[in-house]
Amino acid sequence: MSTDKKMIKFLFNSEWLETSVSPASVLLDFIRNEKRLTGTKEGCREGDCGACAVLIGELRSGKVKYKVVNSCLVPMRDLHGKHLVTVESLNQDELTPIQLTVAEEGGTQCGFCTPGFVISMTGYFLNNKKLDLQEAMDSLGGNICRCTGYAGIERAVKKSIEIYEQSGESKDHLTKLIDAKFVPSFFKSVPKLLAGIDAPKAKQKVSEIFIGGGTDLYVQKWEELSGADYKILSGSNIPDDINLSGNKIRIGGGATIQQLIDSAVIKKYFPLIQNDLQLFGSLPIRNRATVAGNIVNASPIGDLTNILLVLDAGLILKYGKTNRQISLRKFFLDYKLTDRKKNELIEWILLPVPQKEFYFNFEKISKRKYLDIASVNSSIALITKKNKIIKAGISAGGVSPVPLFLKKTSAFLKDRLIATETVREAAKIALSEISPISDARGSDRYKRLLLRQLIYAHFLILFPSQIDETALIRGAREL
Ligand SMILES: Cc1cc2nc3c(=O)[nH]c(=O)nc-3n(C[C@H](O)[C@H](O)[C@H](O)COP(=O)(O)OP(=O)(O)OC[C@H]3O[C@@H](n4cnc5c(N)ncnc54)[C@H](O)[C@@H]3O)c2cc1C
Ligand code: FES
Ligand code: FES
Repeated sequence: MSTDKKMIKFLFNSEWLETSVSPASVLLDFIRNEKRLTGTKEGCREGDCGACAVLIGELRSGKVKYKVVNSCLVPMRDLHGKHLVTVESLNQDELTPIQLTVAEEGGTQCGFCTPGFVISMTGYFLNNKKLDLQEAMDSLGGNICRCTGYAGIERAVKKSIEIYEQSGESKDHLTKLIDAKFVPSFFKSVPKLLAGIDAPKAKQKVSEIFIGGGTDLYVQKWEELSGADYKILSGSNIPDDINLSGNKIRIGGGATIQQLIDSAVIKKYFPLIQNDLQLFGSLPIRNRATVAGNIVNASPIGDLTNILLVLDAGLILKYGKTNRQISLRKFFLDYKLTDRKKNELIEWILLPVPQKEFYFNFEKISKRKYLDIASVNSSIALITKKNKIIKAGISAGGVSPVPLFLKKTSAFLKDRLIATETVREAAKIALSEISPISDARGSDRYKRLLLRQLIYAHFLILFPSQIDETALIRGAREL
C-alpha cells in the first residue's frame, strides 16, 4: 500500500485508522478533539507533567517495542505504521492489575494524573521481564501528581509487581501479561497487523522546519506547526542507528537520547554517559528527543551538546546530495546561531573511539535533580599517561550565549601533572573564559561559583587520591 503525502494509517488501540489531518498537527489534539477520547489529559502541554502520556508501539525485527511518549509533543506524522495505545483500551471487561492497585492503594485522588501514570506503568511492564520497584518508579519520572504524595502510587507499583510475579509461568512475556490482564489479548495480533503496512516514512520536513522528536519545537510553536504547509523534501531521511565505523562511532542524527542509553556501542566505550543521560528530561522525553535536535537547538544549557563538545564530535551535514563535515567545537557561533546553512540537516555525529587511559565526567546542577534544565553543567574528557594529562577537553553550559568549549582551559591542561595546583589554576582560567548573566537560574556570581565547583568536582571524582580536597577548597575563597 502506498501512502499519499497526507494519509496517515495506524492502529488506534484495536482498530485501523486512516486520516488526512495535517502530519504536523498534534497527537493529543487528535485523540481528544477528533476522537473524543478524553482519558488522555491536557496538562502543561510542554512535556513536563505526563498527563497526556500514551504508548506508541513500533515493529522492529518482528517484535513490537512500546514507548511511552507525551502526546502533546508528537506530530501525527510519527503515527504512520505504528500502534497507538490510549488508556481507554487497556482494560476490557475489568480493571487491569495496575488500575486496580492504583485505586486500592490510594494512588489516585483527583484523578487527573492517573491515566498518565497507568500508561507509564503499563509501558514499564511491557518493556521489562525482570521487574524492580526502583526501576519502575524511575520510569514514572515524567509523571507528576499534585495530590497523592506518591506513596500510594509506589504501593500500587509494588503490588502490581507482586501480582505479575505470582501470575504463574507463561511461554513468553507478552502472553504472561495478557494472561494476568495487564494488557488486552489483541496485543498478541499487533506484530502481524503492523507487518502488513508500509514502513513509516522517513522524517519529513514541514514548511521550512525539520522536525526531529519535536520536544523543543512543539513546546515553542505547536500552533504554528499544526497549521504549517506540509511538504516532503527529498534527502530528508535521517538515520537513527548507532554503530562503529573504523575508529569512529557514528550516531545517526535521528537517534534518540534513550537509544544512546540503550546502545551497546555507547555502553562499551562511554559507560558513564549512560548514567549521566538519566538526568536528561524524563523517559517520555528521552524516548523522543534526538541527538541532532539537541545540537541544532543550540541551547547554552543543552546537556548532550555539553558532553559531545569534550568528546570532540564531528558533524556530517547534508543538503540534498551534498554533504560536508565540521567540528562541533566550531558549530556554535552566537546565541542560537550556528554554522548550519539553510536546509542543511545533521545526518551523522562522529565520535573518535577513546584511547587508553581515557577519563570522562559530566556534572549538572539544576534546581531539581530530575526533569529540570541545568543552571550550569560541565563535562571533561582527558587522556592521561601515568600522572600526566596528554589531551584535555572541558566544556561549560549556562555561562555564555553558546554551549561553550573552554579552549584556554583545555589548552592549559595539556601536558600538566594531575595535581591540586593544576586544578586550581584550570578553574581560574575557566572563569576568565565565561560571561554568565543573572537570570531565573541564578546570579552571574552564583554561576561562576558553580562552574568552579564543578571543575573541582571533575578532578575529585576522577582522581580522588591525587587531589587534596582540603587544600583545594582552602585556596579557593575568592572568585
Ligand atoms: C520536559 C522537557 C525536558 C527536557 N529536558 C532536557 C534536558 O534535561 N537536557 C537537555 O539538554 N534538553 C532537554 N530538553 C530539550 C529537548 O528535549 C532537547 O533539546 C532535544 O534533544 C531536542 O531534540 P528533538 O529531536 O526533540 O528536537 P526538535 O524539537 O525536533 O527540533 C529542535 C531543532 O532542531 C532541528 N533539527 C532536529 N533534527 C535535525 C536534524 N537532523 N538536522 C538539522 N536540524 C534538526 C529542528 O528543526 C529544530 O530547529 C527537554 C525538553 C522538554 C520538553
Ligand atoms: S500535557 Fe503535560 S506532558 Fe503533555
Ligand atoms: S491524583 Fe490529583 S494530580 Fe494526581
